Amino acid sequence: MRRRVPLGTDEKLFRSMHRRMLDGPRPVPPWNLLDPARTPEASRERVRQGWAARVESEYRSMVVFGELIARFPEVGLPLEVSCAASQLLQDEARHTELCARVAEAFGGYDDATLDPKHLRLVDDDLPAHLFVARWTASMFCVGEAASVGLLGVLRDGSTDPCVASVIDTLLRDEVMHDRFGWGLARMVFPLLTDDEREWLGADLAFAFAHYDRMNGGCLRPDGGAIPATPDTPEDPDALALGVASRWRFAPAFYRRVDEVILPSLAALGVPAYEAWALRHEAAATLVTE
Ligand SMILES: [Fe+2]
Ligand SMILES: [Fe+2]
Repeated sequence: MRRRVPLGTDEKLFRSMHRRMLDGPRPVPPWNLLDPARTPEASRERVRQGWAARVESEYRSMVVFGELIARFPEVGLPLEVSCAASQLLQDEARHTELCARVAEAFGGYDDATLDPKHLRLVDDDLPAHLFVARWTASMFCVGEAASVGLLGVLRDGSTDPCVASVIDTLLRDEVMHDRFGWGLARMVFPLLTDDEREWLGADLAFAFAHYDRMNGGCLRPDGGAIPATPDTPEDPDALALGVASRWRFAPAFYRRVDEVILPSLAALGVPAYEAWALRHEAAATLVTE
């Protein structure tokens, strides 16, 4: 059964440690300026849904980082890597909380629920170095690298001062996560044999299928051009509050794929172009499974 994203505790010690860790490094958004009453009613639910969906995905990022950190010692990664990764875990907790607060202002995030099977990623049949390589490639080299481009789009479109501040924080953190990911990739991918790199490429096709579907695939199912006009009209009131259409996201996503993700992965010896070409096949497998 899916469960709610757990947020909030009465335990004072945890509350104060949490606030110190999360609020210290980033400005607190001007929450008093966030006023849903200024948004036309027709757009409010769209804004709420957009931010509620982010609550779920940010919390999942936190879960992935926790699972990754747990396996770093088996791979023999230096202590500094675990320490830096724990900072990222806190960042994702910050993102979850910020997104929840925006969603809450617009009516809540009860629909942000978690599938228990997504909360435990460790696969005991997979050696630690392959587990870490798999999630480094998918979560960081694709997910975090793409999110820098997508958040840039949101930042350009958001005119609400509170939401702009929230997105600024998300973007600043994600820029660092993107850098961390490539650093981790430079440490982990050279540990792989040629066969393991092939395996990683095949695995990556599924990650590409997932992110392509989320960020633009519906617009370019056959790899063709993105239509010049949106398939659904852009809602300027939602855009001002950080919720954009996929039509707006897609070009930024494909630009990151073409300019950063594919060439950087290929330079590290991962057959990324082949994986990208196989993503539709991988997506079809996912659907029929
Ligand atoms: Fe995040
Ligand atoms: Fe992140």
